Amino acid sequence: MIKLLFIALFGCICTVEAQLVMSKASPPPNIVFILTDDQDTLLGGMDPLVKVKKLLQDEGTTFTNMFTSTPLCCPSRASILTGRYSHNHETLNNTISGNCSSLYWQKTFETQTLAVAAQKANYRTFFAGKYLNQYGGKSVGGPQHVPVGWNQWFGLVGNSKYYNYTISDNGVPVQHGANYHEDYLTDLLANRSVDFIHNHKMRYTQPFFMMISTPAPHSPWDSAPQYSKMYENNTAPHTPSYNTKAVNKHWLVRQATHPMTKESMDYSDNAFRSRWRALKSVDDLVERVINALSKMKQLDNTYVFFSSDNGYHLGQFSLPIDKRQLYEFDLRVPLIIRGPGVSKNVTRSEPIVNVDIAPTVADIVNGGKGDFPLMMDGESLVPLLNSNNKPKWRSDFLVEYQGEGKDSPPPGCSPTWRGVSQCFPGCVCEDAYNNTYSCVRTLQPQHKVDLMYCEFTDTETFVELYNHTIDPHQLNNIKDTVDPTVLVKMNKRLIMLGLCSGKTCREQSYID
Ligand SMILES: *[C@@H]1O[C@H](CO)[C@@H](O)[C@H](O)[C@H]1NC(C)=O
Ligand SMILES: *[C@@H]1O[C@H](CO)[C@@H](O)[C@H](O)[C@H]1NC(C)=O
Ligand SMILES: *[C@@H]1O[C@H](CO)[C@@H](O)[C@H](O)[C@H]1NC(C)=O
Ligand SMILES: *[C@@H]1O[C@H](CO)[C@@H](O)[C@H](O)[C@H]1NC(C)=O
Ligand SMILES: *[C@@H]1O[C@H](CO)[C@@H](O)[C@H](O)[C@H]1NC(C)=O
Ligand SMILES: *[C@@H]1O[C@H](CO)[C@@H](O)[C@H](O)[C@H]1NC(C)=O
Ligand SMILES: *[C@@H]1O[C@H](CO)[C@@H](O)[C@H](O)[C@H]1NC(C)=O
Ligand SMILES: *[C@@H]1O[C@H](CO)[C@@H](O)[C@H](O)[C@H]1NC(C)=O
Repeated sequence: MIKLLFIALFGCICTVEAQLVMSKASPPPNIVFILTDDQDTLLGGMDPLVKVKKLLQDEGTTFTNMFTSTPLCCPSRASILTGRYSHNHETLNNTISGNCSSLYWQKTFETQTLAVAAQKANYRTFFAGKYLNQYGGKSVGGPQHVPVGWNQWFGLVGNSKYYNYTISDNGVPVQHGANYHEDYLTDLLANRSVDFIHNHKMRYTQPFFMMISTPAPHSPWDSAPQYSKMYENNTAPHTPSYNTKAVNKHWLVRQATHPMTKESMDYSDNAFRSRWRALKSVDDLVERVINALSKMKQLDNTYVFFSSDNGYHLGQFSLPIDKRQLYEFDLRVPLIIRGPGVSKNVTRSEPIVNVDIAPTVADIVNGGKGDFPLMMDGESLVPLLNSNNKPKWRSDFLVEYQGEGKDSPPPGCSPTWRGVSQCFPGCVCEDAYNNTYSCVRTLQPQHKVDLMYCEFTDTETFVELYNHTIDPHQLNNIKDTVDPTVLVKMNKRLIMLGLCSGKTCREQSYID
């Protein structure tokens, strides 16, 4: 099967006879998918991961233009799990009423995830770590609910935490305290993953699919004791948009206090250091997983994916910390893949979206011939894994987000302040109901087309358009100066993508 995949990657046509011979010769490949929480790529988010560089980047393919289609945990995770854009999996935000792990989600889209696809292809599946933010809540089945598709389930109840959490051990809630050696979640996930890899090969002949989903580098950023003093002199990177005033940008960004207060800057700097420290344990986890695969002689027959759910900002446009914005720092995430037939130590620049992960996993478990559930909105990345292949690829994709708000004023802020959320420090809000937008991100590196076009659903029907070719930091909204036909084309494309489903999401854009 691996050899078959290898041949398919080189673009040869495999005969039925060859397939039969080869599937007898080599067992189907395993897949390990490591997903971090809130890890950026533009603010140094990959820098502390020196082992990941050596074990994954040098040994695999790094996708330099990987994006989330929704810059918030729960909708992005739902996209990763189902291969669908938010408008097609209906998870709109991090709350149950927004269908984050809701009963409706459980009986509809949860039955169509990458795990279900892997199980159908006779894979044994394993999940450990943060799932969807509202997982395990009482009203949605509690920790007793084990999502369909997983043979081994070790799912964190609720949002990312490192200590003092409950975890569902195959449906049995287990409470953990705050002792580093017993409870530190990133290490516990590494231990569980290593155990699974060791035990699997002794007891099962099937291939496996593992998803390891770390809390790091999400808040509350507890680091392992040995890393807690690192980077004491580092500060959040002062990128060209750091602590700048939002000019000609949507309402939410305009409300940020500028210049940032000392309190806000200190807060961002502390977040930056803490995030890096928490990531050091992810680096260790990756090394331990690779060593376990190697020890069990599975490393050459295993794909390892590394990615994150959304990016992050730390003072860009004077917003102290968070995600939820349409800008590059919140949308860009890492994607590295190593495995049988994957080109080593290379980068690729095609635009990749979080909705591509599920089709890729489904394709690999089905033999790597381009076979994945067609209701998925993404594309299989298998043709890109060999650097000699230059397949025709998408030139744009959709970004969509429905802002979160609260009807009551944020604690400690003006009582007239309504419809906003995440207002800290200093009552600077990172989200609002009307931080609701959809965008077309057009990216054709070979033609130097690199644009972002967004429309807001707010009282201003605000529009933002950036030309990254000349403005990579998105400082100048050109909607008022650009040739108006560009706006017309982008708007048309946005309407099309905003309603797309399955095949129509994969159709090429007007630029082709
Ligand atoms: C989930 O989505 C469905 C369909 O869009 C909607 O009817 C429902 O109100 C949403 N929320 C919950 C909690 O199910
Ligand atoms: C864990 O909970 C204990 C008891 O409530 C508390 O004292 C401790 O500070 C908590 N630790 C962390 C890291 O959350
Ligand atoms: C993980 O396993 C190692 C080695 O067995 C052990 O020393 C460590 O305490 C474990 N950590 C957790 C959080 O279980
Ligand atoms: C941080 O800066 C102080 C003062 O310059 C220095 O003593 C210390 O060694 C530095 N720490 C690190 C980790 O570089
Ligand atoms: C990876 O490629 C770069 C240049 O493309 C080269 O400098 C480096 O030595 C290579 N690393 C490995 C581990 O082969
Ligand atoms: C999440 O989305 C639902 C459905 O649109 C909405 O009712 C709810 O208010 C949203 N939650 C927040 C915190 O904005
Ligand atoms: C967005 O919502 C906030 C809070 O409700 C409101 O003050 C503001 O005027 C709204 N802005 C736009 C452009 O809709
Ligand atoms: C973006 O900038 C490049 C380089 O100046 C230019 O060639 C291109 O026409 C611009 N695109 C738009 C839509 O303005």
